[in-house]
Amino acid sequence: MAVQPGARQRGVSAEEAIADYDQARATVYFDGEFRDYQQCRIGPMTHALHYGTGCFEGIRGYWSEAQGAVLLFRVPEHYQRLQQSAHVLRMDLPHTLDQLTALTVELCRRNRFRSDVYVRPLVYKGGEEVGVRLQGIRDSFLIYAEPFGAYVDIERGLRCMVSSWRRIEDTMAPARAKITGSYINAALAKSEALERGFDEAILLTAAGRVAEGSAENLFLVRRGTLITPAVSESILEGITRATLLQLWTEDLGLPAVERPVDRSELYVADEVFLCGTGAQLSPVVEVDGRRVGTGRVGPFSARLQQLYFDVVRGAVPKYEEWCTPVR
Ligand SMILES: Cc1ncc(COP(=O)(O)O)c(C=O)c1O
Repeated sequence: MAVQPGARQRGVSAEEAIADYDQARATVYFDGEFRDYQQCRIGPMTHALHYGTGCFEGIRGYWSEAQGAVLLFRVPEHYQRLQQSAHVLRMDLPHTLDQLTALTVELCRRNRFRSDVYVRPLVYKGGEEVGVRLQGIRDSFLIYAEPFGAYVDIERGLRCMVSSWRRIEDTMAPARAKITGSYINAALAKSEALERGFDEAILLTAAGRVAEGSAENLFLVRRGTLITPAVSESILEGITRATLLQLWTEDLGLPAVERPVDRSELYVADEVFLCGTGAQLSPVVEVDGRRVGTGRVGPFSARLQQLYFDVVRGAVPKYEEWCTPVR
Protein backbone atom coordinates (compact mmCIF):
# COMPACT_ATOMS: atom_id res chain seq x y z
CA MET A 1 0.00 0.00 0.00
CA ALA A 2 1.45 3.35 -1.04
CA VAL A 3 1.71 6.03 1.64
CA GLN A 4 0.38 9.39 0.51
CA PRO A 5 3.20 11.93 -0.04
CA GLY A 6 1.64 14.28 2.54
CA ALA A 7 1.71 11.51 5.13
CA ARG A 8 5.51 11.46 4.93
CA GLN A 9 5.55 14.66 6.99
CA ARG A 10 3.84 12.73 9.78
CA GLY A 11 4.35 9.28 11.16
CA VAL A 12 2.73 6.20 9.66
CA SER A 13 1.85 3.00 11.49
CA ALA A 14 4.44 0.25 11.42
CA GLU A 15 1.97 -1.92 9.48
CA GLU A 16 1.56 0.74 6.78
CA ALA A 17 5.29 1.35 6.61
CA ILE A 18 6.04 -2.39 6.38
CA ALA A 19 3.48 -2.84 3.59
CA ASP A 20 4.95 0.15 1.74
CA TYR A 21 8.56 -0.88 2.26
CA ASP A 22 10.68 -1.81 -0.74
CA GLN A 23 13.76 -3.60 0.60
CA ALA A 24 15.43 -3.50 -2.82
CA ARG A 25 15.50 0.29 -2.58
CA ALA A 26 16.83 0.47 0.97
CA THR A 27 20.13 2.09 1.83
CA VAL A 28 22.56 -0.11 3.76
CA TYR A 29 25.85 0.79 5.45
CA PHE A 30 28.07 -1.88 3.94
CA ASP A 31 31.85 -2.22 4.34
CA GLY A 32 32.52 1.45 4.90
CA GLU A 33 29.98 3.16 2.68
CA PHE A 34 26.28 3.73 2.21
CA ARG A 35 25.05 1.60 -0.68
CA ASP A 36 21.81 0.53 -2.28
CA TYR A 37 20.66 -2.85 -0.95
CA GLN A 38 21.05 -4.31 -4.47
CA GLN A 39 24.72 -3.29 -4.59
CA CYS A 40 25.63 -5.21 -1.43
CA ARG A 41 27.13 -8.57 -2.39
CA ILE A 42 28.21 -11.39 -0.08
CA GLY A 43 30.22 -14.14 -1.78
CA PRO A 44 29.28 -17.85 -1.73
CA MET A 45 32.34 -18.80 0.34
CA THR A 46 31.89 -16.12 2.99
CA HIS A 47 33.19 -17.64 6.25
CA ALA A 48 30.26 -16.46 8.41
CA LEU A 49 27.72 -18.02 6.06
CA HIS A 50 29.30 -21.46 6.49
CA TYR A 51 30.41 -21.37 10.12
CA GLY A 52 28.11 -18.86 11.82
CA THR A 53 31.05 -16.60 12.67
CA GLY A 54 29.27 -13.30 13.10
CA CYS A 55 27.79 -11.14 15.84
CA PHE A 56 24.78 -8.92 15.60
CA GLU A 57 22.54 -6.48 17.40
CA GLY A 58 18.90 -5.55 17.21
CA ILE A 59 18.06 -1.92 17.97
CA ARG A 60 14.57 -0.47 17.95
CA GLY A 61 13.60 3.01 16.93
CA TYR A 62 10.22 4.46 17.90
CA TRP A 63 8.47 7.12 15.87
CA SER A 64 7.65 10.14 18.04
CA GLU A 65 4.85 12.27 16.66
CA ALA A 66 5.69 14.96 19.24
CA GLN A 67 9.30 15.25 18.10
CA GLY A 68 8.68 14.43 14.44
CA ALA A 69 11.60 12.00 14.66
CA VAL A 70 12.46 8.35 15.09
CA LEU A 71 13.97 7.85 18.56
CA LEU A 72 16.59 5.11 18.62
CA PHE A 73 16.67 3.31 21.97
CA ARG A 74 19.94 2.86 23.88
CA VAL A 75 22.17 2.82 20.81
CA PRO A 76 25.56 3.09 22.61
CA GLU A 77 24.61 0.21 24.91
CA HIS A 78 23.82 -1.98 21.90
CA TYR A 79 27.15 -1.17 20.25
CA GLN A 80 28.96 -1.79 23.53
CA ARG A 81 27.44 -5.27 23.59
CA LEU A 82 28.37 -5.76 19.94
CA GLN A 83 31.95 -4.85 20.84
CA GLN A 84 31.87 -7.47 23.61
CA SER A 85 30.41 -10.14 21.35
CA ALA A 86 33.01 -9.33 18.68
CA HIS A 87 35.78 -9.53 21.27
CA VAL A 88 34.68 -13.08 22.14
CA LEU A 89 34.91 -14.00 18.44
CA ARG A 90 38.27 -12.20 18.02
CA MET A 91 36.85 -9.49 15.81
CA ASP A 92 37.13 -5.71 16.00
CA LEU A 93 34.48 -3.18 15.12
CA PRO A 94 35.74 -0.77 12.46
CA HIS A 95 34.41 2.32 14.30
CA THR A 96 34.17 3.87 17.76
CA LEU A 97 30.89 3.86 19.71
CA ASP A 98 30.27 7.53 18.81
CA GLN A 99 30.91 6.85 15.13
CA LEU A 100 28.61 3.82 15.17
CA THR A 101 25.83 5.85 16.77
CA ALA A 102 26.29 8.63 14.18
CA LEU A 103 26.31 6.09 11.31
CA THR A 104 23.09 4.53 12.61
CA VAL A 105 21.37 7.92 12.79
CA GLU A 106 22.59 8.75 9.28
CA LEU A 107 21.37 5.41 7.93
CA CYS A 108 17.87 6.01 9.32
CA ARG A 109 17.93 9.56 7.98
CA ARG A 110 18.85 8.35 4.48
CA ASN A 111 16.06 5.78 4.57
CA ARG A 112 13.59 8.55 5.52
CA PHE A 113 11.78 6.40 8.09
CA ARG A 114 8.54 7.81 9.52
CA SER A 115 7.52 4.76 11.56
CA ASP A 116 8.88 2.42 14.23
CA VAL A 117 12.04 0.75 12.92
CA TYR A 118 14.45 -2.06 13.61
CA VAL A 119 18.20 -1.66 13.07
CA ARG A 120 20.41 -4.69 12.53
CA PRO A 121 24.20 -4.15 12.79
CA LEU A 122 26.28 -7.21 11.88
CA VAL A 123 30.02 -7.80 12.19
CA TYR A 124 31.12 -11.04 10.59
CA LYS A 125 34.00 -13.02 9.16
CA GLY A 126 33.71 -11.82 5.58
CA GLY A 127 36.80 -13.62 4.25
CA GLU A 128 35.93 -16.17 1.57
CA GLU A 129 37.85 -19.23 2.62
CA VAL A 130 37.48 -22.72 4.03
CA GLY A 131 38.67 -23.45 7.58
CA VAL A 132 37.00 -23.41 10.98
CA ARG A 133 38.96 -20.91 13.07
CA LEU A 134 38.71 -17.31 14.16
CA GLN A 135 42.19 -15.95 13.46
CA GLY A 136 43.40 -14.45 10.21
CA ILE A 137 40.05 -14.10 8.46
CA ARG A 138 38.91 -10.70 7.18
CA ASP A 139 36.12 -9.03 9.19
CA SER A 140 33.23 -7.24 7.50
CA PHE A 141 30.62 -4.92 8.91
CA LEU A 142 27.17 -3.75 7.87
CA ILE A 143 24.13 -1.98 9.28
CA TYR A 144 20.67 -2.62 7.86
CA ALA A 145 17.39 -1.04 8.98
CA GLU A 146 13.72 -1.45 8.14
CA PRO A 147 10.25 -0.47 9.37
CA PHE A 148 9.17 -2.81 12.16
CA GLY A 149 6.08 -3.67 14.17
CA ALA A 150 5.38 -6.16 16.96
CA TYR A 151 7.64 -9.22 17.13
CA VAL A 152 5.19 -11.15 19.32
CA ASP A 153 1.68 -10.30 20.49
CA ILE A 154 2.30 -8.05 23.49
CA GLU A 155 -1.32 -7.46 24.52
CA ARG A 156 -3.07 -10.82 24.57
CA GLY A 157 -0.42 -12.60 26.63
CA LEU A 158 1.80 -15.44 25.41
CA ARG A 159 1.26 -19.18 25.78
CA CYS A 160 4.70 -20.72 26.32
CA MET A 161 6.21 -24.19 26.62
CA VAL A 162 9.45 -25.22 28.24
CA SER A 163 11.54 -26.39 25.34
CA SER A 164 13.01 -29.85 24.95
CA TRP A 165 16.10 -28.00 23.69
CA ARG A 166 18.48 -26.74 26.39
CA ARG A 167 20.10 -23.30 26.26
CA ILE A 168 23.69 -23.29 24.99
CA GLU A 169 26.22 -23.21 27.82
CA ASP A 170 29.08 -20.76 28.34
CA THR A 171 31.47 -23.71 28.02
CA MET A 172 30.09 -24.50 24.53
CA ALA A 173 29.08 -21.24 22.87
CA PRO A 174 28.74 -18.23 25.18
CA ALA A 175 25.13 -17.05 25.36
CA ARG A 176 26.21 -13.61 26.58
CA ALA A 177 27.70 -12.99 23.13
CA LYS A 178 25.08 -12.43 20.42
CA ILE A 179 26.64 -14.82 17.91
CA THR A 180 24.85 -15.59 14.64
CA GLY A 181 25.65 -19.32 14.67
CA SER A 182 24.30 -19.70 18.20
CA TYR A 183 20.84 -18.68 17.02
CA ILE A 184 20.24 -22.18 15.70
CA ASN A 185 19.60 -22.97 19.40
CA ALA A 186 16.83 -20.35 19.48
CA ALA A 187 15.47 -21.39 16.08
CA LEU A 188 15.11 -25.05 17.12
CA ALA A 189 13.30 -24.08 20.32
CA LYS A 190 11.02 -21.49 18.72
CA SER A 191 10.10 -23.80 15.82
CA GLU A 192 9.25 -26.62 18.21
CA ALA A 193 7.01 -24.28 20.22
CA LEU A 194 5.22 -22.99 17.11
CA GLU A 195 4.75 -26.51 15.73
CA ARG A 196 3.13 -27.55 19.01
CA GLY A 197 0.75 -24.61 18.96
CA PHE A 198 2.53 -22.37 21.49
CA ASP A 199 3.62 -18.78 20.96
CA GLU A 200 7.09 -18.97 22.44
CA ALA A 201 9.69 -21.31 23.97
CA ILE A 202 11.39 -21.04 27.37
CA LEU A 203 14.79 -22.71 27.52
CA LEU A 204 16.39 -24.32 30.56
CA THR A 205 20.12 -24.41 31.27
CA ALA A 206 21.95 -27.72 31.07
CA ALA A 207 21.52 -27.86 34.88
CA GLY A 208 17.75 -27.61 34.43
CA ARG A 209 17.16 -24.06 35.65
CA VAL A 210 15.26 -21.41 33.75
CA ALA A 211 17.47 -19.42 31.35
CA GLU A 212 15.36 -17.31 28.97
CA GLY A 213 13.01 -17.27 25.99
CA SER A 214 14.18 -18.01 22.46
CA ALA A 215 15.01 -14.34 21.92
CA GLU A 216 13.93 -12.74 25.18
CA ASN A 217 14.97 -12.52 28.80
CA LEU A 218 12.51 -13.76 31.38
CA PHE A 219 11.05 -12.26 34.57
CA LEU A 220 8.68 -13.56 37.27
CA VAL A 221 6.75 -11.60 39.86
CA ARG A 222 6.14 -13.32 43.20
CA ARG A 223 4.50 -11.42 46.05
CA GLY A 224 5.56 -8.08 44.58
CA THR A 225 9.22 -9.03 44.03
CA LEU A 226 10.67 -9.13 40.54
CA ILE A 227 12.83 -12.21 39.95
CA THR A 228 15.07 -12.93 36.98
CA PRO A 229 17.83 -15.46 36.27
CA ALA A 230 21.31 -14.01 36.86
CA VAL A 231 23.71 -13.28 33.97
CA SER A 232 25.63 -16.46 34.88
CA GLU A 233 22.59 -18.60 33.88
CA SER A 234 23.39 -18.89 30.12
CA ILE A 235 21.44 -15.80 29.10
CA LEU A 236 22.07 -12.89 26.82
CA GLU A 237 22.79 -9.84 28.99
CA GLY A 238 19.74 -8.06 27.68
CA ILE A 239 19.47 -4.30 27.39
CA THR A 240 15.70 -4.41 27.91
CA ARG A 241 16.30 -6.60 30.99
CA ALA A 242 18.67 -3.98 32.45
CA THR A 243 16.21 -1.22 31.54
CA LEU A 244 13.27 -2.95 33.23
CA LEU A 245 15.29 -3.78 36.36
CA GLN A 246 16.15 -0.09 36.65
CA LEU A 247 12.57 1.12 36.04
CA TRP A 248 11.21 -1.43 38.53
CA THR A 249 13.58 -0.57 41.37
CA GLU A 250 14.16 3.17 40.81
CA ASP A 251 10.84 4.34 39.41
CA LEU A 252 8.33 1.90 40.85
CA GLY A 253 10.40 1.55 44.06
CA LEU A 254 9.86 -2.22 44.25
CA PRO A 255 12.31 -5.04 45.14
CA ALA A 256 14.08 -7.13 42.49
CA VAL A 257 16.42 -10.11 42.74
CA GLU A 258 18.65 -11.92 40.24
CA ARG A 259 18.88 -15.58 41.21
CA PRO A 260 18.43 -19.15 39.92
CA VAL A 261 14.84 -19.94 38.91
CA ASP A 262 13.34 -23.45 38.91
CA ARG A 263 11.01 -24.60 36.14
CA SER A 264 8.15 -25.13 38.61
CA GLU A 265 8.44 -21.53 39.83
CA LEU A 266 7.03 -20.55 36.45
CA TYR A 267 3.88 -22.49 37.32
CA VAL A 268 3.34 -20.83 40.71
CA ALA A 269 4.44 -17.26 39.90
CA ASP A 270 1.88 -14.46 40.16
CA GLU A 271 3.09 -13.07 36.82
CA VAL A 272 5.65 -13.99 34.17
CA PHE A 273 6.83 -11.88 31.26
CA LEU A 274 9.42 -11.99 28.52
CA CYS A 275 11.35 -8.95 27.36
CA GLY A 276 13.70 -7.89 24.63
CA THR A 277 14.22 -5.31 21.94
CA GLY A 278 11.91 -7.25 19.63
CA ALA A 279 9.45 -8.60 22.21
CA GLN A 280 9.46 -5.36 24.26
CA LEU A 281 7.54 -6.44 27.40
CA SER A 282 5.40 -9.46 26.56
CA PRO A 283 3.27 -10.92 29.37
CA VAL A 284 3.09 -14.73 29.60
CA VAL A 285 -0.34 -16.10 30.60
CA GLU A 286 0.34 -19.84 30.30
CA VAL A 287 3.36 -22.15 30.72
CA ASP A 288 3.24 -25.85 29.84
CA GLY A 289 -0.55 -25.81 29.83
CA ARG A 290 -0.72 -24.25 33.29
CA ARG A 291 -2.31 -20.86 33.82
CA VAL A 292 0.08 -18.19 35.17
CA GLY A 293 -1.56 -16.23 37.99
CA THR A 294 -5.08 -15.35 36.91
CA GLY A 295 -4.37 -16.37 33.31
CA ARG A 296 -4.63 -12.73 32.25
CA VAL A 297 -2.04 -9.96 31.94
CA GLY A 298 -1.10 -9.10 35.54
CA PRO A 299 -1.14 -5.62 37.10
CA PHE A 300 2.64 -5.40 37.63
CA SER A 301 3.37 -6.42 34.04
CA ALA A 302 0.83 -3.92 32.74
CA ARG A 303 2.25 -1.09 34.84
CA LEU A 304 5.86 -1.80 33.88
CA GLN A 305 4.90 -2.21 30.22
CA GLN A 306 3.21 1.21 30.22
CA LEU A 307 6.26 2.83 31.83
CA TYR A 308 8.56 1.10 29.32
CA PHE A 309 6.56 2.40 26.37
CA ASP A 310 6.56 5.91 27.82
CA VAL A 311 10.35 5.73 28.17
CA VAL A 312 11.11 4.38 24.68
CA ARG A 313 8.76 6.91 23.08
CA GLY A 314 10.68 9.75 24.76
CA ALA A 315 7.88 10.75 27.16
CA VAL A 316 9.88 10.43 30.40
CA PRO A 317 12.35 13.36 30.71
CA LYS A 318 14.57 11.46 33.16
CA TYR A 319 15.34 8.89 30.47
CA GLU A 320 15.47 11.13 27.39
CA GLU A 321 19.20 10.49 27.09
CA TRP A 322 18.40 6.84 26.23
CA CYS A 323 16.63 8.05 23.07
CA THR A 324 18.75 9.23 20.15
CA PRO A 325 16.62 11.27 17.70
CA VAL A 326 16.99 10.94 13.94
CA ARG A 327 16.52 14.46 12.67
C1 LIG B 1 18.59 -14.89 23.26
C2 LIG B 1 18.14 -13.50 23.59
N1 LIG B 1 17.94 -13.18 24.87
C3 LIG B 1 17.53 -11.95 25.23
C4 LIG B 1 17.32 -10.96 24.28
C5 LIG B 1 16.92 -9.59 24.72
O1 LIG B 1 18.01 -8.71 24.62
P1 LIG B 1 17.78 -7.16 24.37
O2 LIG B 1 16.86 -6.69 25.42
O3 LIG B 1 19.13 -6.57 24.52
O4 LIG B 1 17.23 -7.00 23.02
C6 LIG B 1 17.52 -11.26 22.94
C7 LIG B 1 17.30 -10.24 21.91
O5 LIG B 1 18.20 -9.60 21.48
C8 LIG B 1 17.95 -12.55 22.58
O6 LIG B 1 18.16 -12.88 21.30
